[in-house]
Amino acid sequence: MILKNIDKSITIPKHIAIILDGNGRWAKKRHLPRTLGHKKGVENIKTIALVASEMGVKVLSVFAFSTENWKRPKDEVDYLMTLPHEFENQFKDDFEKMDIKVVFTGRKTMLSQENLDVMEHFQKNTKNRQGMILNICFDYGSYDELTEATKAIARDVIENKLTIEEITPEIIGSHLYTKDLLPLDLLIRPSGELRISNFMLWQLAYSELYFCDTFWPAFSKKNLEKAILDYNHRERRFGGLKG
Ligand code: IPE
Ligand code: IPE
Ligand code: MG
Repeated sequence: MILKNIDKSITIPKHIAIILDGNGRWAKKRHLPRTLGHKKGVENIKTIALVASEMGVKVLSVFAFSTENWKRPKDEVDYLMTLPHEFENQFKDDFEKMDIKVVFTGRKTMLSQENLDVMEHFQKNTKNRQGMILNICFDYGSYDELTEATKAIARDVIENKLTIEEITPEIIGSHLYTKDLLPLDLLIRPSGELRISNFMLWQLAYSELYFCDTFWPAFSKKNLEKAILDYNHRERRFGGLKG
């Protein structure tokens, strides 16, 4: 049974983000190659996206490859660079049934033309959908995002499209890759690591954070429900007082 049907009084976060961590350790524990952990991890994105969509989540962001992950051994990076194809192959049919729209967020300058084409193709094919948005962060990093936003704003100032005084948090937000997405309500990091790893630094300012020990390939509907129930016990004050 899906959470929304259990208790109507539960608030489903509109925008949930997940740092997809623990693929390698999941595989190692089973004496399998790390790549198999990544493969299972992709399958689990589909599973959890379908569950989230059914629960009524509006945006699910997943951190699938960071700007720092290029530092990994070439074999692993080569495998991870096959993921955009995998996303489209594995997700397209079920996502069509659930009306799920896919967007890719991140740096576009380091990825191969082939990957950019696959990503563009998948986005284009789903762009008119009205259901949940699955935002796949691929070659994403906040330092890059904020640096690019800063450059774009500086350019606008030089070209007299904007004055320095007109730069506000809203203007900065409107220059981020995530500008069209809803505010981030809940961040989930599985795998036991208690850090952010350069993910959505700006967007996380007032998000609720949830950490659990399960490795991403094993992260289940139950884990997601637990995170959402935990979120329901938080009091979001945004700097104000208890409401
Ligand atoms: C997350 O799993 C996937 C990527 C970062 C690409 P990891 O590969 O980081 O798995 P662990 O942390 O080594 O277990
Ligand atoms: C964060 O996981 C990046 C992704 C899940 C894509 P990492 O495994 O790369 O993070 P660190 O190195 O443990 O901080
Ligand atoms: Mg990791």
